[in-house]
Amino acid sequence: MQIIEAIAELRQQVAAWRLAGERVAFVPTMGSLHDGHLALVEHARKQADRVVVSIFVNPTQFGLDEDFERYPRALDDDIRELGKVEVDLLFTPTAQVMYPLETLHAVEVEVKGITDILCGAYRPGHFTGVATVVTMLLNLVQPDIAIFGEKDYQQLAVIRRMTRALHLPVEIVGSPTVREADGLAMSSRNRYLTAEERKIAPVLYQTLQSAQAQLLSGERDFEAIQAMGMAQLEKAGFAPEYFAVHNIRLEVPKPTDSAWVVLAAARLGQARLIDNIQVP
Ligand code: PAJ
Repeated sequence: MQIIEAIAELRQQVAAWRLAGERVAFVPTMGSLHDGHLALVEHARKQADRVVVSIFVNPTQFGLDEDFERYPRALDDDIRELGKVEVDLLFTPTAQVMYPLETLHAVEVEVKGITDILCGAYRPGHFTGVATVVTMLLNLVQPDIAIFGEKDYQQLAVIRRMTRALHLPVEIVGSPTVREADGLAMSSRNRYLTAEERKIAPVLYQTLQSAQAQLLSGERDFEAIQAMGMAQLEKAGFAPEYFAVHNIRLEVPKPTDSAWVVLAAARLGQARLIDNIQVP
């Protein structure tokens, strides 16, 4: 695995692969890698000849009162983790390289429509930071395909919308959520949980599963399902932000829809956990 910090070097290597007719897949991450990230890499491997992973803790997607400073950074551990799967190139740019103008917000990609609900309502500017950095990364790597986790369902939807609107020549592929044995979705932020909180954390997924069961059994009172979810999370000790049923395009759900997604975000101690479940 080559580890590259400089843009010129990255471009040279990817250009050489493309010249040789090789298909390139890309997995962007913020590091602190876990098996969920590795599953994306394995997914990428199956779809391409070359796999590029990036690790960059992107400052512009964190709010001022959020965890940018204490976000876990562990490059040596990450390199070891990536040794378990087959990665050709690890791109680890600095913020100076990624944001060459005077301020971090000099040029931004703003996706309208689905960014002011759910996480967007609680994290103003977050999806603009994500869309901007993903546009830059796609432009730098120029992959044939890029893999994103369904764990961040709204992020995946934002990236699909952005790619379509900007005519970016890349195929966006979603990959299923990887979970711990007790159902908790793997996340770099799970390490903020104390031992006590870690025992409570799986209730988030259990609550989504009970919403799924209600929808499958024919319940169409979405408000009632949402209220049940919020109450169940509060009772378990979470401070829930939202527990919401949407159709798969993240619009307001209708009883006549054929598929839904239930999404939740909740604080537990120092951690903000998100998860979702699709129905059916
Ligand atoms: P990060 O949180 O590091 O996640 C990188 C990728 O891994 C995302 O596509 C995310 O959805 C996926 N992922 C995380 N946990 C997962 C799990 N348990 N199962 C499956 N996939 C999982 O998401 C970001 O970084 C950033 O916003 C980024 C897209 C890199 C832009 O900065």
